[in-house]
Amino acid sequence: MTAAQMTARRAGPLKGVLRAPGDKSISHRALILGALARGVTEVEGLLEGEDVKRSAAAMTAFGAKVERLGEGRWRVEGTGAFAEPADVIDCGNAGTGVRLIMGAAAGFDLSATFTGDASLRGRPMNRVLKPLGEMGASWICRAGGRLPLTLKGGGLKHIEYRLPEPSAQVKSAVLLAGLHADGGAVVIEPEATRDHTERMLRTFGVQVDVSEDGANGRRILLPGGQMLTGTKVVVPGDPSSAAFPLVAALIVPGSRVELPAILLNPRRTGLIETLLEMGADIRIQNRRTSGGEEIGDLIVHHSRLNGVTVPASRSASMIDEYPILAVAAAFAVGETRMLGLEELRVKESDRLAAVAAGLAANGVPHTIENDDLIVHGLGPDGVPGGGMVATHMDHRIAMSFLTMGLASHQPVTVDDVTMIATSFPEYMDLMKGLGAEFTERPTKETGAVSA
Ligand code: S3P
Repeated sequence: MTAAQMTARRAGPLKGVLRAPGDKSISHRALILGALARGVTEVEGLLEGEDVKRSAAAMTAFGAKVERLGEGRWRVEGTGAFAEPADVIDCGNAGTGVRLIMGAAAGFDLSATFTGDASLRGRPMNRVLKPLGEMGASWICRAGGRLPLTLKGGGLKHIEYRLPEPSAQVKSAVLLAGLHADGGAVVIEPEATRDHTERMLRTFGVQVDVSEDGANGRRILLPGGQMLTGTKVVVPGDPSSAAFPLVAALIVPGSRVELPAILLNPRRTGLIETLLEMGADIRIQNRRTSGGEEIGDLIVHHSRLNGVTVPASRSASMIDEYPILAVAAAFAVGETRMLGLEELRVKESDRLAAVAAGLAANGVPHTIENDDLIVHGLGPDGVPGGGMVATHMDHRIAMSFLTMGLASHQPVTVDDVTMIATSFPEYMDLMKGLGAEFTERPTKETGAVSA
């Protein structure tokens, strides 16, 4: 694919209403659980980003009937079992897709080969393979548990698994494998991670018991021998995508932006909590429940931000939001300390390194101490900008630094925006609708000359 550079520059205030796309985590799960279920699942508000479309194609390959009925409206008809796919499953850029699907597939007597793009092929799968192996699955893969990988499932036995890293993907993979393990599965999570799998399993009629286990954290018990029944899923707006217009509104003077129907699951609201501590003017209206999840409308005004310390204990609830928080921190007064970011090193890119490089390219002082990132804020009008940012096939790095360019003195360019389509395909148009100024910089591959 040809890289597409993009430049963001200062313009007038951002004003208006932006409908964030459907939540990516919930969208993957709706398709996968729909395919595992017997009967019809209808999904509304599905994110039609590249990552989720890969999961839809994968579910077809495993034998479900998947149809697009209209914008964000999808129908999945499952048989209650996965069949062996006839070809390689390519999950593209999607860590959530491949890890959850491997967990789901491990429960069946089949072989399936998984691959992905260069970013996904570089990411560790051992964290999922370890528990699946303990349950009885086997595989062959590249060194270090890297894709491509062929998984052989079936004949799984019960597991009680304590998560070594705070990962909802690993938790979900074990629970999905546990659906077809003799005696089900127990997952213990020392730190609470997003619980969409547990919630959604219940809406598909599956019993999941969650109890607090003292100092150990939460104990999630999935009894064996259960069947999923097709249901209706309404996907709320993705807080991890809304984060970009939200921070843009905070840092561009005079802005007022509304973000309706955003998921407010407490395991996803760490960024909002942090920004409120920094002094952000974010009002949450019409809190309500939709499809087993809490949602609300956000009204955001330009704000003067102050640096804060973000404790490591909050990291799971905002794990995808550190790149955009680092941008907000650059425009804050004083230091923002983000503690315990080791998981950022194994995302779509090494996000700790990519954020640090992006800050450096745009004249924002910062330090990394072990796995902590400290941004020395330059105040609302102090960020020089002018940099070229390497995105490393990472959608969130691209959108974070485009956001910076909307309020920095000099424009900010990112080297490739193609990956934004994985999670937020309408990002450019919707942001331009609010008043953002983005200009494409044609790359050499297209034969044009850079502006
Ligand atoms: C996700 C979990 C998180 C997050 C990812 C989506 C999920 O990953 O970074 O974007 O849907 O379960 P980890 O579980 O690896 O932390």
